[in-house]
Amino acid sequence: MTPDFLLTAALAAREHAFAPFSKFKVGAAVEDESGHIHSGCNVESATYGLTVCAERIAIFKAISEGARQFRRVAVAADTDLLTPPCGACRQILWEFCGDIEIALVNPRGKIETYRLKDLFPKPFDVSFL
Ligand code: THU
Repeated sequence: MTPDFLLTAALAAREHAFAPFSKFKVGAAVEDESGHIHSGCNVESATYGLTVCAERIAIFKAISEGARQFRRVAVAADTDLLTPPCGACRQILWEFCGDIEIALVNPRGKIETYRLKDLFPKPFDVSFL
């Protein structure tokens, strides 16, 4: 089977998670329009509330590096019931990626694929402004 570099990048990013409070390590990776992969991990704050999820770190890193269109997203966490993006991340993913394919993965190689529209069926976005 061909290695899926996006899933590998999400799993690798997870190893960098800064999660001393929850101990729940998450990695994410997005592939942009030119095939570049941008990854991120969750970064927790002692305030708890200022914690930023892996998905938003990956997207904001990509945007800040000039990427504007995305092909796929992967999210990695060590759960048997694969971890989906939280509500805040679904909103940001929708705004920057639209109805993108989202692959969920765990370190034991379990993989599931979704469309964002199915996870986030009635989004608010710029079209309402
Ligand atoms: N977390 C993510 O990074 N992504 C998600 O979609 C779900 C939650 C992080 C935030 C926090 O550091 C930890 O997981 C526990 O909620």
